[in-house]
Amino acid sequence: MGFTIPEPYAWDESFRVDYDSLDHEHQNLFKAIFDCAAAPGDGGKLAALVDVTSGHFSNEEGMMSSAGYGDYAAHKKMHDEFLGKIKGLSAPINDDTVKFAKNWLVTHIKATDHKYKGKL
Ligand SMILES: [Fe+2]
Ligand SMILES: [Fe+2]
Repeated sequence: MGFTIPEPYAWDESFRVDYDSLDHEHQNLFKAIFDCAAAPGDGGKLAALVDVTSGHFSNEEGMMSSAGYGDYAAHKKMHDEFLGKIKGLSAPINDDTVKFAKNWLVTHIKATDHKYKGKL
């Protein structure tokens, strides 16, 4: 599934999931990836990305779990895989890695997060 990657890389209304806390966290995720792309050699930016990603995933998973959301297990598995990948990175990250992260977030929100709209 091909979704347009925003350039400059930033959250816009097309990513809205209608839960303010999660939309706010998604904005921070875009910013964290933007910052890594702007400073690929900065290990602090990479650590910050891991941090905001892990915080967001646990909040989102908490909401899905409390709501008894049916797709929880498969959704969490995608989170775990992505988090595992970015945790394994070290600075400097290369262009392919930046592209991968940019694309993963856009695709994940639109193809996967959007499915819980109205259900949490
Ligand atoms: Fe998600
Ligand atoms: Fe999300």
